[in-house]
Amino acid sequence: MRVLVTGGAGFIGSHIVTALTDRGHEPVVLDALLPAAHATPPPLDGEWLHADVRDREAVAAALRGVDAVCHQAAMVGLGKDFADAPAYVSCNDLGTAVLLAAMAERGVRELVLAGSMVVYGEGRYDCPRHGRVRPGPRAEADLAAGRFDPVCPECGTPLRPGRVKEDAPTDPRTVYASTKLAQEHLAAAWARSVGGRAVSLRYHNVYGPGMPRDTPYAGVASFFRSALARGEAPTVFEDGGQRRDFVHVRDVATANVAALEAVPEVVAPSSLTAYNTGSDDPRTVGEMATALATAFGGPAPVVTGAYRLGDVRHITASSRRIREALGWRAAVPFTEGMAAFARAPQRGGCLSGPGRA
Ligand SMILES: NC(=O)c1ccc[n+]([C@@H]2O[C@H](COP(=O)([O-])OP(=O)(O)OC[C@H]3O[C@@H](n4cnc5c(N)ncnc54)[C@H](O)[C@@H]3O)[C@@H](O)[C@H]2O)c1
Ligand SMILES: [Zn+2]
Repeated sequence: MRVLVTGGAGFIGSHIVTALTDRGHEPVVLDALLPAAHATPPPLDGEWLHADVRDREAVAAALRGVDAVCHQAAMVGLGKDFADAPAYVSCNDLGTAVLLAAMAERGVRELVLAGSMVVYGEGRYDCPRHGRVRPGPRAEADLAAGRFDPVCPECGTPLRPGRVKEDAPTDPRTVYASTKLAQEHLAAAWARSVGGRAVSLRYHNVYGPGMPRDTPYAGVASFFRSALARGEAPTVFEDGGQRRDFVHVRDVATANVAALEAVPEVVAPSSLTAYNTGSDDPRTVGEMATALATAFGGPAPVVTGAYRLGDVRHITASSRRIREALGWRAAVPFTEGMAAFARAPQRGGCLSGPGRA
């Protein structure tokens, strides 16, 4: 298969390119090398194009002879503040629209999209009295008072967190999350209109070698890893009890290859299917910080009680659907993956200031 990997120079994209090549496929990369993701040009071998997904002509040229598209290009993370919103929407949604329009024109009918668990907002919760409930965003007064766990909107009882499935209602809480959900909606509209088949792999918290350093656009594991590299203790927000599903980047890469190979069999024409892509091994953020600090041989994490308004308390999912449909499951165990990550080199981003090795 000849596969166009947008964002193929990035953290996850570069692992996908390797996994595709290892399986005998022919990846071609299109990447704008955003400064937020690349301080210095990454080492890139193979076929690649330095271009933006919003550039219609470049995308049309990149699609020549391509069988399927693996769309990873996006601005990621929470960003600095709301002023980043137009850039997120432009990159992620206008970019996806331009790509899909070019695919429509060029007759490319298979798409695997980098989805995200952020589309769900808070995870799944059950109240002992009211069953499944959907707590809204947490109030700042509660967070400031250290009341981090959402309570039942009906009766105020503490809730039991569970695992979200793909049919859970979506509830994006940040600009980035809204753009990731809009990408899915655009891909579904494209599929319906041209008879295409699309898969959205809703990745959980991806970590591993090549993860960018601590920029406002990076994930929590890289903040901890960067702190340790500076000889500092990882600082853990809230009380460290936030539950997440940490999935290794190599597992995410094999999920993409599995999805690309199976799209024609598992997805009906004119539709999009979403698959949670996680390790199915929920851990707390505090546990992750401890695992990294221990493996690195650095200072123990410090739990600060600080919080960020856009953060959700618990989000873990069931990855049963992808296991059943594609036969994929995460293979890298948490302890081994984190131990290796503690020693792996990180990738620079232009926003990591001087002296932040
Ligand atoms: N890292 C995670 O934990 C995680 C979780 C869920 C979903 N995702 C999704 O996975 C995908 C890859 O993320 P990542 O963590 O590898 O981030 P990354 O920043 O390392 O990679 C993204 C790549 O896309 C490129 N890019 C961005 N905008 C572009 C544009 N307009 N045109 C061309 N190239 C562009 C960047 O230069 C970069 O190389 C993204 O779509 C992201 O939303 C990541
Ligand atoms: Zn209740």
